[in-house]
Order: sequence, then structure tokens, then C-alpha cells
Amino acid sequence: MSATPASDVDLYTPAARADPYAVYAELRSLGPVVHLTRHDLYALPRYQEVRAALTDWRTFSSAPGVFVDPGMNAQLEGITLCSDPPEHTAMRAVLGRPLRQDRMREVTPVIEAEAERIVTELVERGRFDAATELAEQLPMAVVSDLVGLPDRGRAKMLEWAAAMWDMQGPADDRFAAAAPVVAEFMEYVAEEAVPGRVRPDGWAAHLHQAADRGELPREKCPALMLDYVTPSLDTTILAIANTIALFARHPDQWDLLRADRSLIPHAINESLRLETPVPQFSRVLTEDHVIDGVPLPAGARVALLYGSANRDDRHYPDPERFDITRRPSDRLAFGRGEHVCVGMHLARLEMGALLEHLADRVTRFETMTSKPLVNNGLRGLERLEVKVRT
Ligand code: HEM
Repeated sequence: MSATPASDVDLYTPAARADPYAVYAELRSLGPVVHLTRHDLYALPRYQEVRAALTDWRTFSSAPGVFVDPGMNAQLEGITLCSDPPEHTAMRAVLGRPLRQDRMREVTPVIEAEAERIVTELVERGRFDAATELAEQLPMAVVSDLVGLPDRGRAKMLEWAAAMWDMQGPADDRFAAAAPVVAEFMEYVAEEAVPGRVRPDGWAAHLHQAADRGELPREKCPALMLDYVTPSLDTTILAIANTIALFARHPDQWDLLRADRSLIPHAINESLRLETPVPQFSRVLTEDHVIDGVPLPAGARVALLYGSANRDDRHYPDPERFDITRRPSDRLAFGRGEHVCVGMHLARLEMGALLEHLADRVTRFETMTSKPLVNNGLRGLERLEVKVRT
């Protein structure tokens, strides 16, 4: 047995949230598991160990929550993200029904048309903020329509979702500022996202209908509503903006994509690998466990650093290079195993539709200004002003 390497780096400083990659490289060099003493987390910074943990839910449990703060984990106990089989399997079956790959055929024409409208309008202007004007519109239109929440909810969705993400870190200033916003969201979901108020054919209504059929305890409906709204917006928005930023920095890769559209799915994977929008979640060990000779105690909270694993040179040669011919379909940006992202087909569809229409019209992206997002659960850009050449 070897001693657990330890580090007092703080993954939650504004600088580390904006650019965590130097810290990740340091953690990867320290070992397969590193005790982060500030927040008493055991971090897995390398690819192989993160992947192994994701596919072993009996040892790495999500039921005690997947966030850092114990209060937040208690508050969100029982949502799909924070549960284990068999409870998880039953909830995910209901939650994932409208998001299955075969169901995406129904929404594809709407997404295609909306993507074309957005791209045409912005490209005509020649200059726009890709992080907001380009990236927000499609996920907002698609998700608010599909979930079918009453109006006040639609207007607040983005603010609520970002606050939920900020509360996924330790109880710092960002966490405290987000708390009242999250409380408002929870109240809304319990009181207003109810049958009769939600759109009758939307995902929210479909949860209530599943409860009517006895497929789900009725009291789970508000929690599952959080599962639809929180992870579906900022994740995709950041992924879209990150992708544009990468193509602005690597015009040769944009030329490749424009010349061969079959590269779009691989470009999406490569962007998600290199600039992972959800850089970590955590698990709790159900028993004492040894990782590569390092013993960890039962009850330890283990941080799965997806953003670091995706840049591990033990797994991806020359990992810092953006190469859309790489085909990294095994990237961990959507997780893996029981909790693998249930919305990934939708996210990929949205990203693909935008890239397709941009490739029709844009020959070059030029970044004018950009500003990193500082959020406790997400990584990407808050602003990305680009000029496009056609
Ligand atoms: C590029 C965009 C996205 C990224 C990077 C992303 C990332 C992730 C990750 C890493 C997980 C795994 C959680 C874990 O390991 O515990 C996850 C789960 C999940 N995602 Fe996504 N996501 C994206 C888009 C979406 C969308 C569009 C939706 C909904 C419409 C969604 C809904 C969910 C839900 C409900 C879960 C929990 C699944 C479960 O616990 O079984 N995500 N996502």
C-alpha cells in the first residue's frame, strides 16, 4: 500500500474555475488519487480511474449526492443524478423517455429550422456574442418548449439553472449568492410546475402522467423537474461557445469540417473532450477501496475530474491539441455508466445543427473579446465576441 498523495490546491478559486488545466496537470502528476485537503475530497485526476469509478456504482455511490457541500447533497437527495439502482433505474426510465435517441427524430426538424434562423440572422450581422446570442438561443427555445413550464418559469430558467450549478461547489461566496435563487426555483417547481399549469404535451406534464400511472411516486415529480431544467441549458450553451472559440483559434480545423461534414460528430466529441463543460461530479465510497495501491476509507467523497481525465496523456496522445479527426468517442464529458448524460442526444443534435448551418455560411471566426465564466459547477465562457467572414 502507498500513502495517499495530498495537495492543498483549491479547485474553487476564481482563477482555477476559469482555467483549471495547470492544476489538473499537477494533480495528474501527483498520482491516480490525490487528497484535496481544503475540501476533504479525494480527487481522481486521470482517465482510467475516473472511467473505472463511473462504471462501478456499487462502490462509488451517487445516493449521498454528487456535489461538494453536505447541505446541498441533503437538499437534492433523491433526484435522478443523486441516486443508485434500483431507485435510479426506475426514475431514469421515466425521465429519459422523451430524450431517447429514437425520439430525437421528432424534434430534429424544429431544431434544424431554429438553428438555421439563428445562424442566418447572426451571420448577416457579421459580429455577435457567440456565448449568449448564438449559444443561448437554441437550448433556451428547445428546452423551454419541450419542458413546457408556465411563462414565469421560462423567463427565469437560465438564472435558476446557473444558480443550481453554482451551489455544486463548497459553501463559498458564489454558493451563498446562489442560495436564494435556488430557493425560488424549488418553490416554483413545487407550486407552479403542476398539472393544469404546465403545457399538456411537455416533459413536465409527462412526469405527472407517469405518476398517475404509478410508474413514479408523485412526490418525486418536483425533483425530476430539476433534473430536466438544471442540466439541459448551461451545459449545452457552454459546449456551443467552447466549440466556436476552438474553431476561431484553429482555422485549419474549421476548413477541415467545412470540407467534410461527416466530421461534425467527431468535432463535437473533440470539443467536449478538450473543453469539458461539466468538469467534475463526485461519488461516495460505500466500502474501503484501494486505487492503484492507495487505500481510501469507506465514506470518503471522491471527486471525478472529467475535465482532467479528458486531457490525460496516458489516454489521449498530445491531449492539448484540438484535432477533429481524433474521434474521441470515449471522452468522459457526458460521464459514463448508469448516470451517463440522459440528454446527450439532444445536446449533440443542437450542437450539430448549429455547426452545420455555420459551416454553410462562415469561412472564418475571429475572436474580438472573451471572458471566462466563473461558476462552481461549470466551465466555459461568459462572453465570446466574434467577427465572422463569409
Ligand atoms: C453538452 C451538454 C451536456 C453535458 C456536457 C452534460 C454532462 C453531463 C454529465 C457529465 C452527466 C453525468 C453525471 C454524473 O456522472 O453523475 C450528465 C447527466 C445528466 N444530464 Fe447531461 N449534459 C449535457 C446536456 C444535457 C441535456 C441537454 C440534458 C437534458 C435535456 C441533460 C440532462 C442530464 C440528466 C438528467 C443527467 C442525470 C442522469 C442520471 O443521473 O442518470 N444533460 N450530464
